[in-house]
Amino acid sequence: MANSNTQFTTRLGVIATTVGSAVGLGNIWRFPYEAGMHGGGAFLLVDLFFIFIIGVPVLCAEFVIGRHTGANIRGAFRALAPGQRWGWMGYLSLISAIGILSFYSVVAGWTLEYLFASLFSYSSSFADASESALHSRFASFATSDVRPVLWTILFLIANYFVLVRGVTKGIEKVSNWLMPLLFILLLAFCINSLFMPGAAEGLRFLFYPDFSQITPSVILGAMGQAFFSLSLGLGCMVTYAAYFNSRVPLIKTAVTTAILDTLVAILAGMIIFPAVFTFARQPAAGPQLIFEVLPSIFASLPAGRLWSSLLFLLLFIASLTSTISMAEISIAFFQQECSMPRRRATLLTIAAAMFFGILCALSFGSLSSLKIFGLTIFNLFDYVTSNIILPIGALVISIFVGWKLPLPLLTSSIS
Ligand code: TRP
Repeated sequence: MANSNTQFTTRLGVIATTVGSAVGLGNIWRFPYEAGMHGGGAFLLVDLFFIFIIGVPVLCAEFVIGRHTGANIRGAFRALAPGQRWGWMGYLSLISAIGILSFYSVVAGWTLEYLFASLFSYSSSFADASESALHSRFASFATSDVRPVLWTILFLIANYFVLVRGVTKGIEKVSNWLMPLLFILLLAFCINSLFMPGAAEGLRFLFYPDFSQITPSVILGAMGQAFFSLSLGLGCMVTYAAYFNSRVPLIKTAVTTAILDTLVAILAGMIIFPAVFTFARQPAAGPQLIFEVLPSIFASLPAGRLWSSLLFLLLFIASLTSTISMAEISIAFFQQECSMPRRRATLLTIAAAMFFGILCALSFGSLSSLKIFGLTIFNLFDYVTSNIILPIGALVISIFVGWKLPLPLLTSSIS
């Protein structure tokens, strides 16, 4: 496999791309609102349990499959268990990867809207940072039909331009630049939040586990969050590990990825919850939490527009380095299973995500009354992929590595 542009070239590249995949809206958007709805510290505690006790081993399993075969998810299963029926996992992954990419791009599109709104302060931007103003600003934007769709399309086009350049020149290069920038920005915002009057209360909410809050729904939510956040269950990490060379230490890479991923989720919580309590917002506001809380931070800051632009830029960066990893599942699949040139495989993947992404974006507006199993299209995509397919995929991958792989192969790959 070692031709140019099909392997990550440096150790930094390996970490930047895998952490880039793991760290995303899952950490900065999903974690705070899930924790906010599910009791803060209690949710964090259960999430940590799933990340380190279950997530890290599954991550190692995905790495072993990918690095050993150097293939896409379907090819990898077929190479390791020829003549058996594991290849269907490839189709499940392909469909779910495009599903996640579609709804995720809608939220990434929201971050672009907020980025441009704060850069060019259209529609009076966030000048009025009262709760009701920010709430209605978000609602009127998200339920409209034009701008959310346009941002989703633009976001996916940005993905196309990174992906079409290939693994080394596209994915690795972009991740190497953007991931360090992301950490610097996060730290700066975290320090700012720690000086807010509501900091103590916010930190207490995030870190103090109230054990009575640990209910089955918290446990289920935290499990889904852990898989989603580590990009597990779809073969995303199988696909990336196919680009690792034989010297990459798999366990160390898995542990580093889990630690940095958790750190970003905690930093995001440390940015948002002090602000939630300072500005008397509801921690349980749901998916719109960061879009309604973050702008109020900036209204109180000198050079607020600069900071808000930076923060939404950060969200965009985090989204992009994650979506390219989802898209790569499908691109590698089309390239290797259907012998497609990379450009066509990329085009097909992005076009499919655009089609479903537009439906997801419209499901807040014109299509909001279209319900399947009682859920809007966006919620259906989110629920089915995160809460059903990821855990099943992770289970299948674990069973495969535990029962199907010859032990010597496993021990030699992992050491
Ligand atoms: N982990 C990313 C996040 O936290 C999302 C993600 C990227 C993902 N690739 C994935 C989720 C594959 C599930 C499967 O935002």
